[in-house]
Amino acid sequence: MATWLEEQWKSGDPVIDAEHQKLHQAISSMTAVMRNDPGLGLAMEAVDVLIERMRIHFRMEENLAARFNSQATAPLKADHQRLLRLLAPVRDALQNNDPERARMLMDEFHAQLDRHDREVDIPLFRR
Ligand SMILES: [Fe+2]
Ligand SMILES: [Fe+2]
Repeated sequence: MATWLEEQWKSGDPVIDAEHQKLHQAISSMTAVMRNDPGLGLAMEAVDVLIERMRIHFRMEENLAARFNSQATAPLKADHQRLLRLLAPVRDALQNNDPERARMLMDEFHAQLDRHDREVDIPLFRR
């Protein structure tokens, strides 16, 4: 999660680094809403907001990659789709009233996103 705050992991592109910092702030606040939902359905809304925010982020990266490295676009898209598929079960768990499972799945999403950032985004957007 702290990947984009660590100097060694910055891509060096100020726009990309700033976008990732904002993205991770959004993920932290949505995760906090999920964890603190007193049963008002806020957790579900937070997951939906998070999914939409991730889609915007991924679209931005894919458009950018298409412009300067079209070969990298297909594998980038595939990994983004994989990450989005990890969020659907979080929603399902909340719907099934299983916040413990939702929390575990969110942790898994964070870990996978961190890995994506390190192994895909940073090398691709580094300059
Ligand atoms: Fe990214
Ligand atoms: Fe990405």
